[in-house]
Amino acid sequence: MARVEVDDVARLRTGIGELDRVLGDGLVPGSAILLGGEPGVGKSTLLLQAAAALAAAGGGGTLVATAEESAEQVALRARRLGITDPGVHVLAERDVDAIIRSAEEVGPALVVVDSIQTVATAEVAGVPGGVAQVRESAARLVHAAKDQGCAVVLVGHVTKDGSIAGPKLLEHAVDVVLSLEGESELGLRVVRGLKNRFGPAHQVGLFEMGDGGLVEIADPSRALIGDWRGRVAGSVLFPAVEGKRPLLIELQALVSRSATPQPRRSVRGVDPAKVHQLLAVMERHAGLSFTQADVYVSAVGGVRVREPAADLPIALALASSLLDRPLGAVAAWGEVGLTGEVRPVAHASRRADEAVRLGISDLVFSPDAGDRRIGDVIARCGLAVA
Ligand code: TYD
Ligand code: MG
Repeated sequence: MARVEVDDVARLRTGIGELDRVLGDGLVPGSAILLGGEPGVGKSTLLLQAAAALAAAGGGGTLVATAEESAEQVALRARRLGITDPGVHVLAERDVDAIIRSAEEVGPALVVVDSIQTVATAEVAGVPGGVAQVRESAARLVHAAKDQGCAVVLVGHVTKDGSIAGPKLLEHAVDVVLSLEGESELGLRVVRGLKNRFGPAHQVGLFEMGDGGLVEIADPSRALIGDWRGRVAGSVLFPAVEGKRPLLIELQALVSRSATPQPRRSVRGVDPAKVHQLLAVMERHAGLSFTQADVYVSAVGGVRVREPAADLPIALALASSLLDRPLGAVAAWGEVGLTGEVRPVAHASRRADEAVRLGISDLVFSPDAGDRRIGDVIARCGLAVA
């Protein structure tokens, strides 16, 4: 297959910097993007704002095809967001072929289809949202984008466990896969790149959902750690490196005596299997027992932590909570192996710089500090069992 040369292709910047960066410096004309996320997270809002920003920047018009809401509902949201640009065309339509015909008439730079699970083509049997319809509708829209030279964004709903047919089914059919994540209670929203044929994947963009829609966060680390004081047990900072940018994330653990023979293990934003593994490693190699305890671990702010570099801060947060000893304002990183060794990870100096920039000068430089064993690191942090 011929390599797609996109470096000389003029990219369409939406003008929303956090989104453009995750896209790999803007939308590539003729490409297809899937934006997944749980219902209510803000997908329609983000895309309406992107459409308006694109039009306002002279990037071209947008056709927003809405199959979930009426044109009035979209107009209402647009008014709330202060969007009046005539370059944003809203079409309430469930028929994919009608959407494609409209796009041919309007000639937009961007087509938004909201959502891929609620549109259908009359030429294929099956209900909207079913495998056959989702696959065929997406194929037609992807083809139309290439044909017309516009970018197409497909909105895909994802259920809590991330396992709905739609987005998973489509990942290979599109060029770029983004996911919008966050916590509905907190205003924070993360746009995460999962795949990008035209640029670096795994970029993240941060927004805050407010009364006027999504607002870019200029200093994500500061927003994430907020009014963090670091004076409580079970809290450790982790300078993650997601994509090109470091991000300071607070990892919290709560270890409490269990009232049941089957202690709870509840995890948010972190891989549950990883937490189980760290508990076993600490039991064996640091003399800390969690068997009679309920264990909760969470990454604050609704972000997800996937790097192995988060092993050490998770372990320290667990130990800190178990012993009820605060660590103070400490940032840590390092991978913890099954035999209790702590291994170096990439980007150590960038992680350190980010922590220091935010006033966290107490860094657990392990294994850079020479500690090679989880037990030693825990002891050095004052968390050894008396
Ligand atoms: P929406 O974009 O409709 O989510 P999705 O398309 O992913 O289902 O946004 C849903 C939530 O965002 C809704 O509960 C209201 C809230 N919201 C704001 O807080 N501020 C705003 O300016 C807008 C437009 C929505
Ligand atoms: Mg929506």
